[in-house]
Amino acid sequence: MASCLVCCIIVTSLFMSLSFASAQQGRAFFVFGDSLVDSGNNDFLATTARADAPPYGIDFPTHRPTGRFSNGLNIPDIISENLGLEPTLPYLSPLLVGERLLVGANFASAGIGILNDTGFQFLNIIHIYKQLKLFAHYQQRLSAHIGKEGAWRHVNQALILITLGGNDFVNNYYLVPYSVRSRQFSLPDYVTYIISEYRLILRRLYDLGGRRVLVTGTGPMGCVPAELALRSRNGECDVELQRAASLFNPQLVEMVKGLNQEIGAHVFIAVNAYEMHMDFVTNPQDFGFVTSKIACCGQGPFNGVGLCTPLSNLCPNRDLYAFWDPFHPSEKANRIIVQQMMTGSDQYMHPMNLSTIMALDSRV
Ligand SMILES: *[C@@H]1O[C@H](CO)[C@@H](O)[C@H](O)[C@H]1NC(C)=O
Ligand SMILES: *[C@@H]1O[C@H](CO)[C@@H](O)[C@H](O)[C@H]1NC(C)=O
Repeated sequence: MASCLVCCIIVTSLFMSLSFASAQQGRAFFVFGDSLVDSGNNDFLATTARADAPPYGIDFPTHRPTGRFSNGLNIPDIISENLGLEPTLPYLSPLLVGERLLVGANFASAGIGILNDTGFQFLNIIHIYKQLKLFAHYQQRLSAHIGKEGAWRHVNQALILITLGGNDFVNNYYLVPYSVRSRQFSLPDYVTYIISEYRLILRRLYDLGGRRVLVTGTGPMGCVPAELALRSRNGECDVELQRAASLFNPQLVEMVKGLNQEIGAHVFIAVNAYEMHMDFVTNPQDFGFVTSKIACCGQGPFNGVGLCTPLSNLCPNRDLYAFWDPFHPSEKANRIIVQQMMTGSDQYMHPMNLSTIMALDSRV
């Protein structure tokens, strides 16, 4: 009886995952945001925000740098992998032509934020409104292949990921003491301001045809090795940056709820990146990490000073480190994050997780 039930469950779930994969086939994936999701656009730009030298990419299938801020795959790659899709190419890649346009595109650019002035120190990067402009341009190119209506439908049915906000703190408000923005706004007022600007960006994405959009907030910025090196004596997370993250993330969820209500559909899904990171930052051993404080690649205290370069310390086994470089999670940590996106509870994915979305969308 029991084995029969198990058998039945296995058959059902096998059937579900098969129909699931086939329903996802042909679905496009678009990515917007910063270095957490940039798959190499900045390699084509004259900017200092780049990951184009070893040991970046050391665990990538080619073992070479790709512009991803990871030892291997990044979050968009792993989402594509989970959905059975080809990885999306950076929009600036010359390989993104013809049939490959149907797979989608990655518009993200390391260093950018919600605000236009965030990341100005990196010079030539693709700010978010420029990313959206390129998305409109992409749609014109797609129309040339499959017609205007086909292109619109393809975009409507796509999955979209947008990751913004971290740089508005670490590379703007807290970049230097007495920064322009910190003199202009108290922290709570700044958070309110950038949330209202994020809302406008999401609204624009909707107007451009986005109908399933994962929206991530910031991780625990005060706990990344770079900030531990800069602001922490004993490795405790920086209180001020943690306060910023804990103000920003709940307001993001509320903003997303309000926007969905206004639209009358579950277009936007709030991804609680803060909680997803905090699990392995607080209990790294539970996830197979030896540490969440020391970056695998870097130098100085916590390997958190400066950038990850060919001359940096490098850990032998990247899977044992939650952080790859002073700011970015390792591929292993990215996998934990994407797993939570796929199947996490309401606490992580609001109003629903990616498996639920995929099951819903495959029915229409
Ligand atoms: C940011 O730039 C875009 C496009 O250049 C503009 O439409 C938008 O109003 C700007 N945002 C702010 C807050 O200045
Ligand atoms: C998330 O996904 C799992 C399936 O993997 C499902 O059982 C669960 O109910 C989902 N949670 C929510 C809140 O949608």
